[in-house]
Amino acid sequence: MIVVALTPARRHELRLLAASRPALPVLLTLGRFARPIRRMPGLGWLVADPVTARLILNDGEHFTLLGEGGVGHLWAQVLGDWVYDAFDGAGHHALRTKARELFTEDNAAELVARVAGPRLRRCTEALDAGETVDVADLGRVIVGRIVADLLGLRIGTADSPDDDAPYRAVFNTGEELAALALGSTASTHLPDATVAAAKAIVARMTGGVAEAWRTAPPDTLLGRCRELGLGLRETEGLAVLLTVAGTETAASAMARTVALLHDTGEQHRLRAEPDRIADAVREGLRVTTPAPVIGRSVRADVDVAGRRLRAGERVMMLTWTANNAPGGFDLARPYLPENRQLWFGAGRHLCLGAPVARAELTALLRAILATGRPWKIVERRYGRRVLIPTYHTLGIALA
Ligand code: HEM
Repeated sequence: MIVVALTPARRHELRLLAASRPALPVLLTLGRFARPIRRMPGLGWLVADPVTARLILNDGEHFTLLGEGGVGHLWAQVLGDWVYDAFDGAGHHALRTKARELFTEDNAAELVARVAGPRLRRCTEALDAGETVDVADLGRVIVGRIVADLLGLRIGTADSPDDDAPYRAVFNTGEELAALALGSTASTHLPDATVAAAKAIVARMTGGVAEAWRTAPPDTLLGRCRELGLGLRETEGLAVLLTVAGTETAASAMARTVALLHDTGEQHRLRAEPDRIADAVREGLRVTTPAPVIGRSVRADVDVAGRRLRAGERVMMLTWTANNAPGGFDLARPYLPENRQLWFGAGRHLCLGAPVARAELTALLRAILATGRPWKIVERRYGRRVLIPTYHTLGIALA
């Protein structure tokens, strides 16, 4: 029994999930029985109810992402023990308070327009000229450009600003690091060799951060970090986090939303009513939920929805399942108060880059809509064995 109809759009999404990890669609579709919460041998507690998931994500007293099963546990092994304070301890609150002003809706939109605008205009021109554009690749290049700008990386030259290759490399570095966590669904204890490999990638990524942190003007991210009083170590940690958290997720949402608008036929409504672009972005994020599972471990015994959770146990919030329960991609679907924006998490770890992600997605859709014509999908390949389910290739051309 499948809760939601297997429309072509849903079929592609489920195949895409399966390509990333074969067990994922099984977990996420059967996970609907985990409402409000259910224990699964070998996996821990599963939660597919949005309200219960938010309750847990808001309860820092009983749940942590630093214990076995949480992403903070992975990071502490790679970045060092200071993560325990900065990711979920007193230092996290201080860091978030300082970092709050880093991204607002306005400066995220300006950032994306400045850094990705010219590249997106070339996308519109290519489509207008009858060319095929691979929006999966374009998404990776766009997020690579944004991250390179945020980290003050001096790549690309004034002579060849159109060259995408250095930005693909930035994306690949983030992906490489994230891939090291691939085996962590069962356990977040990393083998020594993995920790060593991850440390080498981090060193490569943050090679230029120290210099930029000292000298960059206050209107750049690293300069702003300094002005806000973030130390070099925290700034380097934040830089790594932004690269990892902000690349694969956003690129995944971009290509998948373009595919969903096509597969559901909703692109026609969006072209007729372009003011619905914010609805398209919200629905795209809801249906794709690029981080499909959020993990926590239980810090202290606690009762949730009538069940007793014990310290040390793992909880997996099946956010994809919770977000998809209301149904498929529909531009007319109103804001869902229960789900809110669970695709960005909730509580103290709510995605710091949410305004950037929304601005990236909006800018891509605008660039495609600017052609004024419908698009068709001419090539589609799902990403295989990737941490964040995504399209490897999504070639579109004007119909
Ligand atoms: C569609 C794109 C994105 C999605 C779906 C997404 C999703 C998430 C989720 C679910 C979390 C919470 C994880 C947890 O509670 O364990 C998170 C945290 C975070 N995200 Fe995003 N993210 C996206 C894009 C971005 C971007 C573009 C950036 C940066 C430019 C970013 C930076 C961060 C950071 C720094 C955190 C950690 C916040 C903290 O622990 O306090 N994300 N993201």
